[in-house]
Amino acid sequence: MSTSTAGTSATPRAETTKQSETFSSRNIFILSAIGSAVGLGNIWRFPYVTYDNGGGAFMIPYLVALLTAGIPLLFFDYSLGHRYRGSTPLTFRRIAKWLEGFGWWQVAVCFVIAAYYAVIIAWAVMYMFFSFNQAWGDDAKGFLYDSFLHLQADVTTGFTFVPEVLIPQLVVWAVTISILAFGVSKGIARANLIFMPLLVVMFVILVVQSLFLPGALDGLNSLFTPNWEALADPGVWAAAYGQIFFSLSVGFGIMVTYSSYLERKTDLTGSGFVVAFANSSFELLAGIGVFAALGFMAHASGTSVDEVATGGIGLAFVAFPTLISQAPFGPLIGVLFFGSLVFAGLTSLISLVEVVIAAVRDKMSLSRLQATFAVGIPLAALSLLLFPTTTGLYLLDVVDEFVNKFGILAGALATLIAVVVIARKLPLLARHISRVSSISVGKFWMLLVGVISPLALTYILVTEIITKVTSAYGDGDYPVEFVNIYGWGMALALIVVGALISLIPWKQGVVTDVDEDTEDEHFTNAMTGEIPVEQADDEREEVRA
Ligand code: ALA
Repeated sequence: MSTSTAGTSATPRAETTKQSETFSSRNIFILSAIGSAVGLGNIWRFPYVTYDNGGGAFMIPYLVALLTAGIPLLFFDYSLGHRYRGSTPLTFRRIAKWLEGFGWWQVAVCFVIAAYYAVIIAWAVMYMFFSFNQAWGDDAKGFLYDSFLHLQADVTTGFTFVPEVLIPQLVVWAVTISILAFGVSKGIARANLIFMPLLVVMFVILVVQSLFLPGALDGLNSLFTPNWEALADPGVWAAAYGQIFFSLSVGFGIMVTYSSYLERKTDLTGSGFVVAFANSSFELLAGIGVFAALGFMAHASGTSVDEVATGGIGLAFVAFPTLISQAPFGPLIGVLFFGSLVFAGLTSLISLVEVVIAAVRDKMSLSRLQATFAVGIPLAALSLLLFPTTTGLYLLDVVDEFVNKFGILAGALATLIAVVVIARKLPLLARHISRVSSISVGKFWMLLVGVISPLALTYILVTEIITKVTSAYGDGDYPVEFVNIYGWGMALALIVVGALISLIPWKQGVVTDVDEDTEDEHFTNAMTGEIPVEQADDEREEVRA
């Protein structure tokens, strides 16, 4: 695979040594992909989204979204990265010159999400310590907003730092950048090998412990009692698709990047099914654990689960601290819950930043170390400048909402239209998947990726745009210009920045368009054993050079 330049300090990622920049086995890839998928979205987002969108009945749109969009698009992302063997922009650039900007759009989405994802992990780190002495006393909400975040009353962009958040966030960035500096097999893979088993053990203990709390059953009843009428609400279906995209990490470059680090001969569909199944299982486990705990809270305070059920920040940093104060073995629950958030968050943050590192590395022909610092330092600086502040929470809320809707979903739709409808690459990608995988894909997969997913995404986006335009985000809590700058402005900036970066020329020899038909034939020969895969790859590199 590698050319004569392999291993030198300043070579593009696609041409460096195989061992350091590949997942050493399919299992390590699967573990890392699960590490990316299982994140904050599973633990604090899914339980409340389910509860809020019909409870048990939400499982139907959730499963439909998983089967019609989540898994098919996971295969789509895998096939792109694996077939074109590059970071997201290089992969798209290899398909067609005009497509590169779509890749940078996805990179920009990851950059923005990583910037605020780190601060949530920092809060979780602090709350892990707070759990020991229940620092929040009997007012978890007041503690979070006033004593911990020092949240300012007026919604502006202030730069008054909160040291209790700034310092752990600095540590989160130092850990993330250090791991990424070691590369794919020594950094990303090893971190997942350590963090993921820890996460699973901690989370399973937490869920089992929650199930034994008094009132746990009431919590589960309220989560799973189906409200069938919810299925007639289009918003419920939009919520299901939104949850699947964010949670599976599809449509924003992560799976394209990770699959480009796979060996040539890898079962893509088999791996995809394992990742999707593991992610959904973890999500379900989180739903059970969180609602069992909320059932206990309702029981302890003599109210109903409706009163205590909340999502996101309220769930993790208000409801759980209250529960920790009331439950037997409270500090243990605290360490397990916040520790799970930290490990789940870190493995997802690593994947988000890797998308940007791989892209910059390919574009500027940098070494792993150069690219890690070229990306890590400005990204960490921006993240540390904006979020551990007395107004950081407002910023996080608006940025998160808009980047999810108009970054991930809009970017995924635009990419599908560009690659499938305009560049017409779907048959080629289907052939590629079928050649390397245990389970082949055909017309049905193409229908899901080329028709059903784009239609569903278009519908969701139109609904979202109408909602956002007709009713101000945050029920008027935020000034219009704040939402305009950090919501709409940020979402638009992702596209503009993506387009502008794509105008910068590539160093010679990095893109090297390959004749796909010739390559496919060549690759087929390799897969059927007529020539060894390695030889096919080496020969292709020679053609490129
Ligand atoms: N997939 C990641 C999550 O669920 C980003 O948080």
